[in-house]
Formats: sequence, structure tokens, C-alpha cells
Amino acid sequence: MSTAATALRSRHLLGIEHLERDEIDLILDTALAMKEVGSRHIKKVPTLRGRTVVNLFFEASTRTRMSFELAEKRLSADTLGMTTTGSSVTKGETLTDTARTIEAMAPDLIVMRHASSGAPHQLAKICRAGIINAGDGTHEHPTQALLDAFTMRERKARLQGLRVAIVGDLEHSRVLRSNVFLLTKVGASVVVCGPPTLRPVGIAEMGVEVTSSIDRAVEGADVVMMLRVQHERMKGLFLPSMREYFTLFGLTPERMRRAAPDAIVMHPGPMNRGVEIDSEVADGPWSVILDQVANGLAVRMAVLYLLAGEEG
Ligand code: CP
Repeated sequence: MSTAATALRSRHLLGIEHLERDEIDLILDTALAMKEVGSRHIKKVPTLRGRTVVNLFFEASTRTRMSFELAEKRLSADTLGMTTTGSSVTKGETLTDTARTIEAMAPDLIVMRHASSGAPHQLAKICRAGIINAGDGTHEHPTQALLDAFTMRERKARLQGLRVAIVGDLEHSRVLRSNVFLLTKVGASVVVCGPPTLRPVGIAEMGVEVTSSIDRAVEGADVVMMLRVQHERMKGLFLPSMREYFTLFGLTPERMRRAAPDAIVMHPGPMNRGVEIDSEVADGPWSVILDQVANGLAVRMAVLYLLAGEEG
């Protein structure tokens, strides 16, 4: 019989792919305790006092960046932030030189978002600090999948046996990849749906059902997770028109009625209203989209604590 993890095995969180099931459970259970901290009158604990966390965001972010920053403050860490604009990256400094410069200031953790898949792995090879991947290209977004799992577990009291439909721009989605790794590890059944032009090679080999019919994907689903159409990553002509995309793949109240009666709707954000999701669904009774944002804070506190706290 395997024993439960009491610590993460790596000093980095680069993805879900190489996390063990007991490590996922440990992060989700720790996040539950962190959520309790957020319900107190004084929402701050001294857990990371004297630790330094650097937030490196080379790509736009609202939710991930703000929740990491708030999570670090709630744990009493010293924090520094850097975005591409206003940094020496605009003068042509390489990622390696930027990382070495930051390393010289001896941070304990570096949280990084980058447009290139594998950029956090490159940092992990040259830095003594622990690296947290806050989204790398089309590869992984591990804390997003963890907060999604936390939200599903909060609403459904389980992950094993859930039917999860993930619909949208599959090709460009790091959220898809991290969620598929996580959900298949915990015994959920996953169906993915998107236009054939936006379907990554090898998706069928990841242990999921693949369909081009949103009606089929949503049928009986406990969770419907919509993915953003990532216009900024599309160089070619992937879609004829946004109107046609919404007709074929948009989530409407009518389509939601095919799901399980107590189904929930998720979206990692930011949303393209009227493209992948109807506002009536995004703001309706099925939606847990703002719960995902709130839970992101607890999950990121848990990850920071497990990587840099006493046990980290
Ligand atoms: N879900 C997500 O990563 O959102 P941001 O791009 O706003 O951080």
C-alpha cells in the first residue's frame, strides 16, 4: 500500500506530467488549509517570512500574476516582480542572462510565465532557486490545472469517476495539457472537443476521448470546461469565422441542458464572450468561473508553502 506524500519530490513545479497522484492530493489538501487562512479577519501568516520570491512574467497575465503576488504577500514572503516592458529584456538581454542576474540576488523561488514552451525548464537547469511554471507556451500551466481540480473537488466532493468535457482551441492550450495529465492521473474520464484544425497531434494517445461534436462532448458531463480561442497564437487561417465557430463549438444554455443536471461550467479566463461561451452560461447558475479565480489564490499559497516553507 502506498503512503501519502508529506512533501513534494522536486524542488520545482514545472508541470503536472511528472507529479505523482499523492503529490497532487498533498497540494489540494494543503490548499484547503490555505483557503481557511483567507477566511480569517487577518489573512496573513508568517510561513515564508525571510524568503524571497521573484515573479517573472514575459507574457500577459491578470489572474495568475495577481494571485501569485497576493499568495506571496499572504505568506509574508519578500516579493519582486518583473515584466518584459520596463526591463532590460527590451534591450535584447537573453533569458539566460536575465536568469543569472536574478539568481545573483539569491531568491528562494522564481515564478515564471513565458511564451516559449520549456523556458521554465531552462531556468531550472541554471538556477539554484526553485522554479514554478506559471504557463509556458502551449506546454503546461500546472497551477491552473491544480486550481481547476480543487474547484471540481470542492463542488463535486470527488475527482475519480467525474466526466469532464474540455471544449475549444485544443491546439494552443497549455491548460488542456495540464488538465488532461491531472484528470487522467486521478481517475476522471475526459472527453475533448474542438475543430480538427485546432486539435494537437497525439491528443488521442493521452487517454482521452476525442470528438468534433460539442453536443456529444457535453452529453452527461459533470464538468464542462471551455477553452479560449487563442487568436494571438494563430499564425495561419485556423477558423473560417468567429460566428461559425460559435455556432459549432460555442457553449449555450441549450447545450448545457444536455449535461448532468448539477453540472458546472469552468473557464480558465480570459473569456471571449460570444465566441466560445455565451454570456448567459458564463454568468449563469452553472458557472464556477469566479470560484476558480478565488481558489487559485489558495492553490498558489499551497504550492509556494510546499516548495519554500519549512518542509520545502
Ligand atoms: N488562466 C490564466 O492563466 O489567466 P491569466 O492569463 O489572466 O493569468
